[in-house]
Amino acid sequence: MSERLEEIAARMMTAGKGLLAADESTATIKKRFDTIGLESTETSRRDYRQMLFSAEEAMRDFISGVILYEETLFQKASDGRQLAEIIVAAGAVPGIKVDTGAKPMALFPGETVTEGLDGLRDRLAKYHAAGARFAKWRAALPVSDTLPSFGAIKANAHALARYAALCQEAGIVPIVEPEVLMDGVPGNHSIKRSEEVTEETLRITFEELADQRVSLEGMILKPSMVIDGKKARKASVQEVAERTLRVLKRTVPAAVPGIAFLSGGQTTEEATAHLSAMNAMGPLPWTLTFSYGRALQTEALEAWGGRPENIAAGKRAFSHRAKMCSLAARGQWKKDMEKAA
Ligand code: 13P
Repeated sequence: MSERLEEIAARMMTAGKGLLAADESTATIKKRFDTIGLESTETSRRDYRQMLFSAEEAMRDFISGVILYEETLFQKASDGRQLAEIIVAAGAVPGIKVDTGAKPMALFPGETVTEGLDGLRDRLAKYHAAGARFAKWRAALPVSDTLPSFGAIKANAHALARYAALCQEAGIVPIVEPEVLMDGVPGNHSIKRSEEVTEETLRITFEELADQRVSLEGMILKPSMVIDGKKARKASVQEVAERTLRVLKRTVPAAVPGIAFLSGGQTTEEATAHLSAMNAMGPLPWTLTFSYGRALQTEALEAWGGRPENIAAGKRAFSHRAKMCSLAARGQWKKDMEKAA
């Protein structure tokens, strides 16, 4: 299998497929398990992720790559195989979240800067040896009338660009994720404000990527959609799609092979509908697909409920959602397809 960055990126952006973000940190997966009353242990995390990665239909037909947390990359399935091997056997690419989290930014109250650059070169070599061929780093930018500040956007964009350069040196495709938060504090911003902030953030991010000599052909962008705050949601599917595409066309060079959205707290159906609407407005300069965490997993997690007897139901729920997202990646999803299932 070829190892050129462009080719890995092309595999990740296979038409009609997208990425499963299963890279919840130990703290975040605990929150997800709390919703089904399940204790988060190394074994329960393994069982849950093994269920997802061995959902045959979803993994073979709709998922081109899986973002893992470090624990999972080095974890074995119940049959003794590495979990990453199961992903590769299904024809998907394993990837790894490499940032160490968004930390309060000194002198910038209410804002964070994402950390993880120290020692990253050595960690990337270890991850590559374990089979990871792409990575993810997420910056988080809260929206209010005055936030995010220029300083926080700049610091986060610079870190993203330094990370991306280290990945490319290591033969790993960087997913560059500058998330403009929909559910941050205060969370009541308008879609207009979201558009303004997203445009400035992407503009600065691509400036920093150029300054750090990152190859655009060998990266994937993972943005948030332009959408009003979680406490003020009222924009139509059409408006979200139009504004998001307008910003992306203004800021993302056509040399970037693909854009894979995060779901960011949208419901599963909203995230599916928005992606489909955008793809239906094509042709577009880049592949536009999903890299959802919650919007791909919520239904599967509920159907499973932490019970071994529900594994088949969990796989079915995951396959259904992955199929809906795949249709959205082709611009062919319709609401009545949800009911048909
Ligand atoms: P959500 O789709 O749940 O926002 O997660 C995607 C992700 O990877 C965030 O970093």
